[in-house]
Amino acid sequence: MTPHVTGAEEPRHGTAPGAWPFLGHLPYLAVRPLAFLDSLPDHGDVVRVRMGPRTVHVVSHPALVRRVLTDRGSFDRGGVLYDKVRAVLGNGLATCSNAEHRGQRRVLQPAFHHSLMERYAAVMAAETAVVTGGWRSGAVVDVTEEAFRLTTAVAVRTLFSAGVTARAAEELREALDVLLRGVYARVVAPALDRVPSPARRRYRRALARWRAGVAAIVAAYRATGVDHGDALSLLLAVRDERGRALSDAELGDQVATLVLAGAETTSSVVAWALRLLADHPEVAARLHGELDAVLGGRPVTGADLPRLPYTGDVVREVLRLYPPAWAVTRTAVRETELAGRSLPPGSLVICCLYLVHRRHDVFRDAARFDPGRWAAGEVPRDACVPFGLGATKCIGDVFGTVEATLALAAMASRWRMTPASPRPPRPVPRIVLSPGPQPMLLAERGAADH
Ligand code: HEM
Repeated sequence: MTPHVTGAEEPRHGTAPGAWPFLGHLPYLAVRPLAFLDSLPDHGDVVRVRMGPRTVHVVSHPALVRRVLTDRGSFDRGGVLYDKVRAVLGNGLATCSNAEHRGQRRVLQPAFHHSLMERYAAVMAAETAVVTGGWRSGAVVDVTEEAFRLTTAVAVRTLFSAGVTARAAEELREALDVLLRGVYARVVAPALDRVPSPARRRYRRALARWRAGVAAIVAAYRATGVDHGDALSLLLAVRDERGRALSDAELGDQVATLVLAGAETTSSVVAWALRLLADHPEVAARLHGELDAVLGGRPVTGADLPRLPYTGDVVREVLRLYPPAWAVTRTAVRETELAGRSLPPGSLVICCLYLVHRRHDVFRDAARFDPGRWAAGEVPRDACVPFGLGATKCIGDVFGTVEATLALAAMASRWRMTPASPRPPRPVPRIVLSPGPQPMLLAERGAADH
């Protein structure tokens, strides 16, 4: 079938029904968030949803998503969500406003140059071996946790490639773990930080450990003055137009933002992939076939990726069905219009990539997990944009894709996983669309499998 040209039809406007007094649609989002989201396209391509006292415009039409993300004169990163993330994490590339964006992007871009990918891929493969090294047949592991452990370790190891001992790296990773969880809690419930509790103590201790750890590494980098060709070396070398270097606090913010933007997004892809494979034995069989033929039982490396096209398509299909950045938000900074309707300044728009990727007028059997649709050429270009688009398109798109693909290849080539609980996953659309805890029973794939 030839895919439809996306956005060929006139976008429709609508309002989500059933708003509660005061709370609006928040109760639906709290209890059955994905079911609520899934219901929105029935009401239009731009749907007004009430979150407490605020009205937000949820956009699920590819052409409108393009407009909102690329018309930077009318839309900026702003609004409650960004304010809260910035309050916790500072002002890094993923959260800064349009005015600061170009300068910050220029600073970080070299750390994502393709010539560095080989080095990063080696770290990813080694860290995957560390995580899976503790796995045993018959054990139950929470794959969501394990994937998160992996991606935070990779983040630490690639950002600061030099002079970090295994112990220091693990300490930083542990601190990050607490911080990343805490950031979300603080974004949805800022009052948390005002009430003394063991969780607040843990969070504050982790923040202090993270800052001290990063400061120690920064001091060591500054002392030696060696360019290690990693993100931290680049950040240290940056000077603004007045010749000023970034302060330790600014460096810390930038580094924390990179990790925040990269770790949970990528780990959720891995966790969803493992779950979807367990639920789709036909896909798992084809994947195992490819991995066995190419790897023949040896560990995967970055150099294998071009010969693992189906593995890549599994990752792409996971990114389509469960885009980790499921909602990319913008605020109108001036009076503008969206698909023929006026939007006053301050309007909050959510580009819902989750809905864009599941449009029935674009994808055959849209909700079905079918990696084969990629090789069949059934996915139009603008219809699947898990990394966003335009000037703020994800800087770590290749990094994240390579990491998820390597992790999936390494795990699936050696392990078969069965959900330990018959309950279906209960996805949690927090900042990242995560599958939630996923306990899985491990079985090492034997000779009979190969
Ligand atoms: C599969 C994994 C990932 C997904 C789905 C993802 C998704 C996205 C999306 C949708 C955006 C655009 C946000 C916007 O326009 O406001 C974005 C931006 C960003 N991502 Fe990712 N990301 C992933 C992995 C990573 C990784 C691994 C890193 C870093 C190591 C990273 C760092 C960033 C940064 C710094 C930005 C801001 C870019 C800018 O504004 O110029 N991401 N990501």
